[in-house]
Amino acid sequence: MNYKLPYEEKKLFFFKITGAFIVLIFVASICSFWYVNKTFISFEDGYDNRTDILELTIDGYTFLDRNSNSTLDVYEDDREAIADRVLDVLSQMTLQEKIHLLKGAGMASTIGMTKPGGIPGAVGAIVPTPRLGIPTVHLSDGPAGLRIEPSRENDDKTYYCTAFPIATLLASSWNETLVYEVGNAMGREAKAYGIDVILGPAANIHRHPLCGRNFEYFSEDPLLSGFIGASIVNGIQSNGIGTSVKHFVANNQETNRVLNDVIVSDRAMHEIYLKGFEHIVKRSQPWTIMSSYNKINGVYTSESEWLLTNILRNKWGFKGLVMTDWFGGKSPSSQISAGNDLLEPGTNRQWKALTKAVKNGELSMDAIDIAAKRILTLIFKTKKMQNYRFNNTPDLKKHAAITRNSAAEGMVLLKNENSLPFTNEKNIALLGVTSYEFIAGGTGSGDVNEAYTISLEEGFKNAGFKINKTAKKIVDLHRKVNSNSFIKPEGLDAIFSPFSPPEIIYTTDQINDIVATSDIGVLTLGRNSGEGGDRSEKNDFLLTKTEQEMIVKFTDAFHKKNKKVVVVLNIGGVIETASWKDLPDAILLAWQGGQEGGNSVVDILSGRINPSGKLPMTFPVKLSDHKSHKNFPKNPKMITIEGLVKNLIFPPSETPKAHKVKDEDYTFYHEDVFVGYRHFDSKNLSVSFPFGFGLSYTDFKYSPMKLEIENDTINISLNIKNIGAFPGKEVVQFYTEKLNSIIKRPSQELKSFAKTKRLENNESINVSVKIPIIELSYWNETVNDWSLEKGEYNIKVGGSSRNISQILKISL
Ligand code: BGC
Repeated sequence: MNYKLPYEEKKLFFFKITGAFIVLIFVASICSFWYVNKTFISFEDGYDNRTDILELTIDGYTFLDRNSNSTLDVYEDDREAIADRVLDVLSQMTLQEKIHLLKGAGMASTIGMTKPGGIPGAVGAIVPTPRLGIPTVHLSDGPAGLRIEPSRENDDKTYYCTAFPIATLLASSWNETLVYEVGNAMGREAKAYGIDVILGPAANIHRHPLCGRNFEYFSEDPLLSGFIGASIVNGIQSNGIGTSVKHFVANNQETNRVLNDVIVSDRAMHEIYLKGFEHIVKRSQPWTIMSSYNKINGVYTSESEWLLTNILRNKWGFKGLVMTDWFGGKSPSSQISAGNDLLEPGTNRQWKALTKAVKNGELSMDAIDIAAKRILTLIFKTKKMQNYRFNNTPDLKKHAAITRNSAAEGMVLLKNENSLPFTNEKNIALLGVTSYEFIAGGTGSGDVNEAYTISLEEGFKNAGFKINKTAKKIVDLHRKVNSNSFIKPEGLDAIFSPFSPPEIIYTTDQINDIVATSDIGVLTLGRNSGEGGDRSEKNDFLLTKTEQEMIVKFTDAFHKKNKKVVVVLNIGGVIETASWKDLPDAILLAWQGGQEGGNSVVDILSGRINPSGKLPMTFPVKLSDHKSHKNFPKNPKMITIEGLVKNLIFPPSETPKAHKVKDEDYTFYHEDVFVGYRHFDSKNLSVSFPFGFGLSYTDFKYSPMKLEIENDTINISLNIKNIGAFPGKEVVQFYTEKLNSIIKRPSQELKSFAKTKRLENNESINVSVKIPIIELSYWNETVNDWSLEKGEYNIKVGGSSRNISQILKISL
């Protein structure tokens, strides 16, 4: 029998169902919000930073009575050694307080939800222990300057930070003193804003040009990475501000970075991937190291006792604490047991898991004490423990001058056919959108909230040049037509969406008008990438069709009128240059030079500064020339905010073995130690621009090199003379080669370098370096240690890896 509901009942039924559905969605949303909030954002109830600690004076000594017991405890007495104070406070802590310390405070401050005294935008914290008056310690990104929110609720003041040049540019300066100064300025800025630890520098190796985060990293060479990284650390830490050197280790791709398993030999690990970190640890003793997301040979780095305890601490003597990368790794108790002391940014899940692991004996009291002790040692070193009152007024002007000079020093002149510096050029035709929209740095956590970025247009105006009006009108119109694409992403959006407005397609008439009305063309190519995604070959490494046409048409039109074209590369990573580099008259690799970038480029083009940067990596002819190319992701996938949130709530599980995808779930490092020039030079492959290459407006003469072996060191010295007309600096590079090696070794490896001071015309300077003989060893997998081969070695000196001017042989 067919029973039909009367119309009124149907309506009621419909309303009931819809109502129930709405209530369900409402309840589900509230529950989800509550769950996310209580698990990831704000779960620190009862652990508020104390601001009511009173001063007491006992026997003429005034101190903060942190635990309010009216007596002077050892840990409250800042005349005592930190080690003793830490032991004292640790002895007063409950087990719960110690466990509480091992994970951060969650994400509230990352998203700007701070309590009074907090720092909106600071991405992490070490939690306070209020009962004992131990304060909160603030952590903030990152490698190119601080990343905090520039404005705060109910506050007219702004909190902008200086966007310093990207790490790759700093490495291109090969100038440790200059990089120390940049670090020093970063540290001062952190101190002014109440940040205790800067999450940087990042020292991963450029294994392949398309890693999306290469701009945050220094070089394809571990020695250069290590020496420059140590200079930044020393500069920052000279202010009593800590660093977190990241991402330890072999985090060389963004694709599936949280699950990716790096399959790599012990030799490549020691000689290439660990070596840079080893130099940093030994030369600068950073306060902290950040473990990476990936696994190495099946084990998460944050859960690897081999890495964090055996190598980092026992072999290298690292004294600080290790923190995870944000939400990195899987098992909190394995992380703490392995020597990863602090879980950032911290979740309620981790807190519960640690408590449970202690109860069921999985996590030992010893492991907890060791981690808590390391964390407390850091806290006691910070300004917060010294009750330092930060004033929120960093000297942004002074830091802008530092970033301007350091950016100019790391820009690399790749080509110059009698075109630079400008002589009589007054009217400059700025071509391509990036000439007007200079890219200061990459995206992701390496981004900075700076007050402004100087474009090339502004840079030229500031230096008194005229901007060609015809070219400018074209870009203005282009901007109007594509107005939506010119809106710069802000906040969280800026982290995930690189700003890349569409390129201008110039008509032939426009090109001719520009050429007729200007003295020279400056054509800028821009690239932006960042955290959460690798770059692609098409339209990124390779120029787009529009870019290729721009270069061809403009160089042709300008040359027909006997005028020149300079190409400026405002990029964060290597692009293809071999196919078009013959066309323009000059090429300046400007990298992403921070907020003063436009001024720095003009400083070089105008001759105010003589370029002295050299490449910290190879520019290959083709991507596939890199030995690592066979095993690098070819289908880049960008992480999205939605994806991130989903992964947080439902952590991605391991792909079943049979379905694992090469280069995503696992990546073979089959190139072994043959990364970058170690491969190109050993195979004698043609490259577009070699490692260590960079031109100057002057020439240098190298005097004969003198060698001397003194105990366990090779002492090398020579004179460098400026024999050109322009004052300038030279980067002198020292490579070594083992002759007749019993194993397969790179044909040469950088073992030292020196940058001269600015030499006037005819001025010379003595350059001397010391190479510890032990650094000529290779990692011997049979004995699981470094081995020094006996026999002959070539010691080479030159201006680049492919411009070796002298070779001397030594016998060891
Ligand atoms: C990045 C780190 C960064 C952290 C905090 C992570 O996603 O890998 O480099 O320091 O976030 O922003």
